[in-house]
Amino acid sequence: MTFLIVGGSGFRGTELVRQASAAGHTTVATYATKPGSSSLTVWRHLDLRDAGNLDAVMSEVRPQLVINVSSGSAHWPTTAEGPIRLAMAAAKYGSRIVHVSSDAIFSGADVHYDESSLPDPVTPYGAAKAAAETGVLAVHPKATVARTSLIIGHGRSVHERLVHDLTAGLRDGILF
Ligand SMILES: NC(=O)c1ccc[n+]([C@@H]2O[C@H](COP(=O)([O-])OP(=O)(O)OC[C@H]3O[C@@H](n4cnc5c(N)ncnc54)[C@H](OP(=O)(O)O)[C@@H]3O)[C@@H](O)[C@H]2O)c1
Repeated sequence: MTFLIVGGSGFRGTELVRQASAAGHTTVATYATKPGSSSLTVWRHLDLRDAGNLDAVMSEVRPQLVINVSSGSAHWPTTAEGPIRLAMAAAKYGSRIVHVSSDAIFSGADVHYDESSLPDPVTPYGAAKAAAETGVLAVHPKATVARTSLIIGHGRSVHERLVHDLTAGLRDGILF
């Protein structure tokens, strides 16, 4: 299969490129500011705020599967609007799409959450992620939304370091 990994230069994207390649898939990975270092993939510049850029990449790659692991923190045009634009393009080109969301769409007020739980974000980042997944599912009925919590790995992720610092009492604050 041909995968388009949007945000392939990021923390999650780097591992996805590695695993997809190891599984024998062809990948094209995107970056917004700087290509990643992996030589296992083909790199393309993609800014999800730019519909023309997106259409050019989709038209060239024609992926069977789009995996969206881009992140623009709380920046609404990137984090909320960008994935919806991407899902519309995936529908246009007949691609499946997996959109990676976050448990930040929930306030944490409830003890248990499941797939039927409605978003009640309390941060701008959570609100943008909630808007994105709602829009993605509306414009691409076969889209898959995967909500993750903290992604851990090699210890160099900003988010992972922040959580370690918070749990160790080295700093105060909320995530995002
Ligand atoms: N990390 C976590 O613990 C965690 C927890 C829950 C959910 N998530 C979700 O998992 C996904 C991956 O997170 P991550 O930590 O791997 O993110 P990340 O390391 O911050 O990587 C973000 C990626 O998005 C790209 N990007 C930034 N602005 C863009 C734009 N306007 N258009 C297209 N691409 C853009 C970046 O490209 P450049 O680097 O070139 O700018 C980079 O490739 C995100 O959707 C995030 O919300 C992550």
